[in-house]
Amino acid sequence: MAQSQSLNGKRVLLIIGGGIAAYKTLDLIRRLRERGASVRAIMTRAAQEFVTPLSVSSLTGEKVYTDLFDLTDEAEMGHIQLSRSADLIIAAPATADLMAKMAMGRADDLASTALLATDTPVLIAPAMNVRMWLHPATQRNIAQLKADGIAFIGPGEGDMACGEYGPGRMAEPLEILSAAEAMLGAGTGPLAGLKALVTSGPTHEPIDPVRYIANRSSGKQGHAIAAALARLGAETLLISGPVNLPDPLGVSTKHVETAREMLAACEAALPADIAVCAAAVADWRVDNEAGQKIKKEKGGLPQLSFTENPDILATLSKLNHSRPRLVIGFAAETENVIEHASAKRERKGCDWIVANDVSVDETGGGVMGGEENTIHLIRAEGREDWPRMAKSAAAEKLAHAIAQHFSLSDEGPRS
Ligand code: CTP
Repeated sequence: MAQSQSLNGKRVLLIIGGGIAAYKTLDLIRRLRERGASVRAIMTRAAQEFVTPLSVSSLTGEKVYTDLFDLTDEAEMGHIQLSRSADLIIAAPATADLMAKMAMGRADDLASTALLATDTPVLIAPAMNVRMWLHPATQRNIAQLKADGIAFIGPGEGDMACGEYGPGRMAEPLEILSAAEAMLGAGTGPLAGLKALVTSGPTHEPIDPVRYIANRSSGKQGHAIAAALARLGAETLLISGPVNLPDPLGVSTKHVETAREMLAACEAALPADIAVCAAAVADWRVDNEAGQKIKKEKGGLPQLSFTENPDILATLSKLNHSRPRLVIGFAAETENVIEHASAKRERKGCDWIVANDVSVDETGGGVMGGEENTIHLIRAEGREDWPRMAKSAAAEKLAHAIAQHFSLSDEGPRS
């Protein structure tokens, strides 16, 4: 079977850290090249104890860079050039030491210098002993690196070379490859040049400093849509309520708690071309939120009073000047799905409604938190009924429908 050339023409700078997982990186090089990417590699001194520069250079087909001071030769490529000329930098395995250096901005060898001297997107595949991974110092560095916009893939959980069990195992080459494909997709594809914002997950509405009102939304559908739009090239901002999902690769994610924060984040993200409101926003919040924890009083019950939350979908749909060109809402219905969803489209003023049949199916499974969805796409020009499918497949189909809409519209994607 012909190999997909999904990375044709892409330049990857691969930084190999010193860990036993470095042997898996050899397979990663092969897979990146099979898909059309060119790979240049930097090895740290410790990495060369695990795999040889000769093996790496036979797979990359290029010289392997190992020493900061090798690069002073006129004929050589400087370290700045090395990292700037790449479309993506992958550090695999990223050791605890390499991550600590990155978090601190240190540059005392070629690998750390190349990572500091660049604004190219960076994907890291950490690999280390489970205790090193769980150590508060590493956890601090992880938080810092995430805040700096570094993308993570893994680590996985399992038996480790050191005989222990837990998180710390480097992601498999194929997982690193798909993460790289997702990150390199941005900027090319039918939605390139368009900006999308996607809301996802539930909102939490506080009752007091320790209690809140929430719902069962998992965020799976919204997160999958954000990732699918990014894969088609849209510059995508995901505004997510509290969920137990990793931030999708290739997407900027803003985390919020309440409906009001979600609306403020959407407004701050305008102008945008596409808005997809997939969040299960709480319809109401407590308007007498207590500043201190409400105490049990004998015989008494707290008196909560409610007020309506802003409707984010309706607000975005009804904007005058900064209305996104395509606004898409969701409707979760248990009966009369089409009529209720069509009425919701009119009422809220959005262009499309993705109607979801959330009645419990014959297997007893539900859509909320589940892996599958049955969708009817309702537009002014009519409706499409999609078969039941995985949420990731539904996200892909919706992203392609959006791409088709923009390819047919007069304005098309902005160049
Ligand atoms: N929505 C929103 N802000 C709210 C409430 C809803 O943006 N405060 C959006 C959701 O993201 C979704 C759509 O509006 O796109 C759903 O509308 P909603 O009126 O909440 O419909 P249902 O959840 O289907 O509930 P109901 O049928 O009770 O109206």
